[in-house]
Amino acid sequence: MKVLVVGGGGREHALCWKISQSPIVDKTYCAPGNAGISLHAECLNIDVGDFNSLARFVKKESIDLTVVGPEQPLCEGITDFFEKEGLMIFGPSKAAAELEGSKIFSKNLMRKYGIPTGEYFVFTDMEKALAKTAEINLPFVVKADGLAAGKGVIICRSRQEGADAVRSMMERGTFGDAGAKVVIEEFLVGEEASFFAFTDGEKILPLEPSQDHKPVFDGDEGPNTGGMGAYTPAPVVNDGLRQRIIEEVMVPTIKAMKTEGRTYKGVLYAGLMIKDDDFKVLEFNCRFGDPEAQPLLMRMESDIVPILYSIACGDMETNPIEWKDGFCVCVVMASRGYPGSYQKGVQLKKLKNFTDTYETVIFHAGTLFSENKLLTNGGRVLGVTSLGDTIGESIKSAYKVIDSISEESLIYRTDIGKKALLRISD
Ligand code: AMP
Ligand code: GLY
Repeated sequence: MKVLVVGGGGREHALCWKISQSPIVDKTYCAPGNAGISLHAECLNIDVGDFNSLARFVKKESIDLTVVGPEQPLCEGITDFFEKEGLMIFGPSKAAAELEGSKIFSKNLMRKYGIPTGEYFVFTDMEKALAKTAEINLPFVVKADGLAAGKGVIICRSRQEGADAVRSMMERGTFGDAGAKVVIEEFLVGEEASFFAFTDGEKILPLEPSQDHKPVFDGDEGPNTGGMGAYTPAPVVNDGLRQRIIEEVMVPTIKAMKTEGRTYKGVLYAGLMIKDDDFKVLEFNCRFGDPEAQPLLMRMESDIVPILYSIACGDMETNPIEWKDGFCVCVVMASRGYPGSYQKGVQLKKLKNFTDTYETVIFHAGTLFSENKLLTNGGRVLGVTSLGDTIGESIKSAYKVIDSISEESLIYRTDIGKKALLRISD
């Protein structure tokens, strides 16, 4: 069969890498893809938001399945568009993707169905939101309702920061319409984890727990990014918690979405805050996490394509997913300056010294081939992803490869996986 992956980051590289290994796949395409993806898939110069051109290409090439990576096209209704055209697609409908597309929708759903989450207040009126920032316990969190490319969550440690966050969203329109409404939420402490489950809207097939590293600097310092590294499994989610997350978050959310007339098909991503063997949902996303998808897909032993295809058909196959033993860690290398401003088009000279092995694969995010040169083309550039029998070994392998390819223009955290290491040696 032929498969098209929509997107062009590290997550989509991991998807193309995994999908193209399936014995039932003859050809993989990716729109728009990146330099690394072009080694596993034919890259198309079509924007992820150009549904017409994507559907036209799928029909012309008789592509059997389209798999959507990022949230933007899902929230804009790519699945509804493709299904109307009679095309098979993996990813939730626009109505179901509201779980990520509107923080107000997702918080209200959690409140209505008793899914554990932080206390929160919704505001459409700026004066009322400002009044709340003057009385709520510090610290607190101000969130833009809509999609804001990962920048719409502001942690406020003073009332002034809170008022500034509200004004920037509701008065100055920093995030456009996405910030016209806001959620003000209690600040939750603990250790974060990411939990994913495939679902056809009724059945669920959980993946192994993973953990992202959002802040840009070691020790979780500095501003939040899209994610600077991830590993799986995440020992913070012990077996008991894993079962409770399935029973108290994943299953009730899928049921709630069906009850609300928004049947959710795809992969559901719960971002969790874990403390004292208990947890609360920070957010839902309607897609795979990036970078979490990189170590997850590298450890996945089962063929992913029958799972994705059966979900697109509406009747998911439920054989438990098989995983490679051990751990997998992904360390992100980003352009110096990220998540602030950074230079693009810088040549990556040392990468040609490395060839992927069974233990280590380098997934590309913002990269581009131009005139036979490999250039940076985004904030996050590479995801060095390594398997190991222990978390310590996987960390060592990843950083060894990084030492051999690192460049002045790239930054990375040196403590990815440390929390797991500490937990296991406890
Ligand atoms: P979200 O997009 O809601 O997951 O927020 C992005 C990041 O902001 C999360 O991964 C957390 O690191 C942080 N965050 C969001 N909500 C809270 C909260 N209520 N308390 C503490 N940190 C939060
Ligand atoms: N790893 C965070 C995200 O994908 O949103």
